[in-house]
Formats: sequence, C-alpha cells, structure tokens
Amino acid sequence: MLDSIKDKRLVFVTGKGGVGKSTCAAALGAALARRGKKTLVVETDAFSAMSELLGKSGKDGTRIKIADNLYAINLQSDECLVRSLTRFLPSERVVRSVTGNRVTEAFFKSAPSVNEFVLLDGILEFVEDNKQLYDHVIVDLPASGHAVTFLNVPDTLNQMMRGVGPFAKRAKVIAGWIHDSSRAAIVAVCLPEEMPVQETIELEDKLEEALGRGLELTMVNMVHPRPFPARFGTAFKEASESAGVNVDPTKEFSEESTATRRVLAGNVLAMSWYKRDRTYLDLLHSKLDAEIVELPMVYETEENDIVDRLANFINSDGQTTETLAS
Ligand SMILES: Nc1ncnc2c1ncn2[C@@H]1O[C@H](COP(=O)(O)OP(=O)(O)OP(=O)(O)O)[C@@H](O)[C@H]1O
Ligand SMILES: [Mg+2]
Repeated sequence: MLDSIKDKRLVFVTGKGGVGKSTCAAALGAALARRGKKTLVVETDAFSAMSELLGKSGKDGTRIKIADNLYAINLQSDECLVRSLTRFLPSERVVRSVTGNRVTEAFFKSAPSVNEFVLLDGILEFVEDNKQLYDHVIVDLPASGHAVTFLNVPDTLNQMMRGVGPFAKRAKVIAGWIHDSSRAAIVAVCLPEEMPVQETIELEDKLEEALGRGLELTMVNMVHPRPFPARFGTAFKEASESAGVNVDPTKEFSEESTATRRVLAGNVLAMSWYKRDRTYLDLLHSKLDAEIVELPMVYETEENDIVDRLANFINSDGQTTETLAS
C-alpha cells in the first residue's frame, strides 16, 4: 500500500469537508513514520484538528514531535506572511513597517491569493532545504472545492506579475513543485457515497485542466467492511430468508424480536452497506488511474485511536476492508 506516494517529498491531501481529510492525513503520516520515514504533517486551519487526532498539542506555528519520525505543525498565514516578507523585502525594518501596521497588513492580506501564496511558501521551506529534513511533508489542504484554486495560486501570481520580480520567481519555483508529479503527490480523500465519489472523479479532471497533472492516490474512508466472511454467505442467505428477515431495522428490532432475528437483521443491514460501498469503489476503480486505498469505518474509539488503527491498517500487509471479517 502507498506505492504511489512512497517517493514523494510533498503530499497534498484534499477532499470534501468532513470526509476525514485530517484523519487520513494524520494516518498517512503515522503509517509512513512507522515505516521509518521522517514525516511532517502540516495543517493550515485556524483550529487545529491534529492535536486531537495525534494525541499531542503545541503552539500554532511550532513544530511538535508526535512519535518517532512523526512531527506536526499548524501553519498560520500571519506568521507565514512575516516569513515570506522577510525573504523578499530589503530589510527587517521594512517588514516590520508592513506587519506592524494594521492598515498595510490588511492591505497585503486582502490582495488576491496572498494567504495561499504565503502558506505554500512556508510549506515549501520544509521540502526544499539541502539537508532533507523530512522524507515526506503531508499537507492537510482546505476542502476540495478550493484545492485546485489553492494549488493554482503560484501559477496565477506568476502570470499576474508576468514573471518579473522576486515574488514571481518564487511563485514559479512553488508552481514547479506542484506541477511535478515525481516530487509532489496529490491525494483525494472521499467516502464511498454518490456525491463524494463524483466530486473525486471531477477533481481528477479539474487538476488535469488546471495543473496538467492528476491524483496519485485516492483514500476511500469509512468503508463498511464485509460483516462476515464470504464462506458463510450461503448459510447466511438461507438463514435470513427462512426467518423472513428484511433490512429495515425499525421493523426488525421490535420488542418481540428474538436474538437470532436481531442478529440476522443487523447483518442483512451491514451487508447492504458493504455492497453499496463496493458499487462506489468499483466506480472509482473504473474511472481513476490513481492508487485507491480503502480505510475501514472504525467504531467507538477516541480520535487518536482511530488514527492509530488506520495507520496500522495501512501498514498491515495485504489486509483489506474485504478481508477484515475473515
Ligand atoms: N475511518 C473512520 N472511522 C470512524 N470515524 C472516522 C473515520 N475517519 C474519520 N472519522 C471521524 O470523522 C470526523 C471527521 O473527521 P476529520 O476531522 O478528519 O474530517 P475533515 O474532512 O478533516 O473535516 P473538516 O472538513 O472539518 O476539516 C472525526 O470525528 C473523525 O474522528
Ligand atoms: Mg480537517
């Protein structure tokens, strides 16, 4: 698993809001770190999800060590703005005059794409150093509607400035990384459901159109595993048919339901979820060239437990959501 990203220094993780993007970015980081790869997970949200997901918190903008080989940082555009300006403006005094003045700072930050540019500029610092600080830098991007726009910002800025000046030059370097699928990977996270699957298929097209490259990896999160091994299929079908059990739990789980009926009905329902998920997974396989990794739905655990389990699942050789029941 993860062959498609194992040699990528920069990994952008995107997806629709709430599909488990941050969870998958954290699990990806934990899985790679456990393989001995020094990994940094970067988030760019005002509210850090990583502290809860990875079980450790730190000050915004400060790198924290989560485990062996695993680090996390929450980058804020304010701090990135200062760092970017320090790189481009002639003296610290000039930088201070911009960032120390609310009006000038507001002007800078309201300029189109400045936030995105300074965040990408800050992220790039982690991958382009000569010391090779990290094997992988995983970036938890904003929701997918914005991901293409976000990743296209360096190109847009470079074109706006007609390639002239230090900002344009820097934008070109950042765009070079984003376009280069031998150094940077784009990972989509989705659920095995109609809308998220369609959006992922569309995302692939939009990326091709805007950046001339597609997705390396799609992580299909919260997949319902097969409720019982395939070898029990015939026996289960016969038992549920002879008991006349259907998939509507509101009908099945009445006071009078026997234990057997309840167990059968629960499994008929779980089987219908499993089959529905397989339909969407088949659709993704037929439409995308990217590697597809399925992550199981995890029940009743703490947030950082979910990440731990998903990372173990990713690293467990040959295990799939199909074989979980066996
Ligand atoms: N495989 C899973 N099994 C069970 N619960 C999960 C799984 N993946 C994620 N979750 C839960 O789903 C919720 C949303 O996850 P997460 O915060 O990672 O989503 P997100 O896509 O990053 O959301 P946002 O768009 O708000 O940033 C969390 O409570 C998380 O614990
Ligand atoms: Mg998130």
